[in-house]
Amino acid sequence: MKKKIHIIILAAGKGVRMRSNLPKVLQPLAGKALLSHVLAAAQNLDPAMIHIVHGSWDENLRREFCCGGNINVEEVNWVEQAKRLGTGHAVQQALPHIPDDAMVLVLCADVPMITAQTLQNLLAQVSVFGVGLITTKLSDPTGFGRIIRDPCGSIVSIVEQKDAQEHQLIINEINTGIIAINADLLKKYLSKIQPNNAQNEYYLTDVITLAARDGHKIAGFLTSDADEVRGVNDKEQLEQLERIYQKRKAQHFLRQGVTLIDAQRFDVRGNLQVGMDVVIDVNVIFEGDVIIGNNCKIGPSNVLRDVKIGDNVEIKSNCVLEGAVIENGCIIGPFARVRPTTHLKSSVHIGNFVEVKNTQIDEHSKANHLAYIGDAVIGKNVNVGAGTITCNYDGAHKHQTIIEDDVFIGSDTQFIAPVKIGKGATIGAGSTITQDAPAEKLTIARAKQVTVDQWQRPKKE
Ligand code: UD1
Ligand code: CA
Repeated sequence: MKKKIHIIILAAGKGVRMRSNLPKVLQPLAGKALLSHVLAAAQNLDPAMIHIVHGSWDENLRREFCCGGNINVEEVNWVEQAKRLGTGHAVQQALPHIPDDAMVLVLCADVPMITAQTLQNLLAQVSVFGVGLITTKLSDPTGFGRIIRDPCGSIVSIVEQKDAQEHQLIINEINTGIIAINADLLKKYLSKIQPNNAQNEYYLTDVITLAARDGHKIAGFLTSDADEVRGVNDKEQLEQLERIYQKRKAQHFLRQGVTLIDAQRFDVRGNLQVGMDVVIDVNVIFEGDVIIGNNCKIGPSNVLRDVKIGDNVEIKSNCVLEGAVIENGCIIGPFARVRPTTHLKSSVHIGNFVEVKNTQIDEHSKANHLAYIGDAVIGKNVNVGAGTITCNYDGAHKHQTIIEDDVFIGSDTQFIAPVKIGKGATIGAGSTITQDAPAEKLTIARAKQVTVDQWQRPKKE
């Protein structure tokens, strides 16, 4: 029978080298806490339970993490490690919650790029051997635990940098910190480890040494992808890993046929889906869930957050789009801001310095210059002149502006909502519209122009 998997994520490290009030494992990689990345890989393995060993975080931090990270809280058991006495001690804190017949997988919250696939490969080997770990080879192994093998190549122990002898320090195969082991073996050997080492810590790695000494064969899963198992300790490493992460994302999209003008200036902080023949210029940031259809052009320096974009759409430079649906053939920008719950039907044009919020705009309508359109419903073929403002807020409530099909709005018009403009109406430039305007008629609401014949400009003495 396949064993139930219990995953322990070690997250109690203080992360002093981050020089931040935010715990290390909550620092962001690609817009998401390091811990969230590891948690996502863990959840992909469909475990019986995930135990997160954390330090003394305040309750707010945990709540914030749970809400922001889309955690199914029932799947997670939070275990506090009050004193940081080593990786072995950290694992010990979770043991009372783990049945003897389980398979335990230990992950580190500061190794965020680990994939479920690699973990599955480890688990497959460990289901035969009972104990195993992921190792990798580094050109500079400084700081890591070294893998000691016997002449036949079997793993016999792990020696930490600070405890290593000269001849062991030249070994470049290192412990990634990711270990899988049957719960009964883990419990047996964890109860035996002692903090007799240079750091006076309980080392989880001593479990491996003790098991090997007892004749257990250790499955060593050597990965050639060192970046996947790379840990993060400081902001410099965090920045390096961010670039590695983004490079991988960029490669994925390039292979899929997306044109990226510069893969170094492409950032995905969430989930991005891209259709065929899409060109993405430099410095575009994708956040949340973004879907882009076919034949789209995303100009330079745009921020797209939780937007769905159809086919043949062009987003010109310097726009911020959030929480919107943008249908086929729309042209947006440059310098446009589209805010949440906006729906632009096909072939809508939103030009420079136009802000649109919580508004539906129907096919072929245009607002090309300097406008604020909030809480509005706009029909087809409407021309919104420059300087048009929906005055939607009375200081307490938001009100709606309804503009029906084929309306022409002259420049510098204010709509004092709630207000409705009938189909085919024309609004004269400079109008302040306080009442509904009838269909097909010209409505003007501005003071009449007068010329004062006898008037003279005052003169200086
Ligand atoms: C550990 C391994 C080392 C390995 C390296 C990989 C041990 C003894 N050494 O060393 O062989 O090469 O990881 O990065 O296991 N943590 C706790 N509580 C503690 C101590 C640590 O939760 O009391 C957590 C940390 O938050 C981190 C992980 O365990 O996520 C690893 O701890 P760290 O102090 O970074 O271990 P290393 O000395 O780097
Ligand atoms: Ca470490």
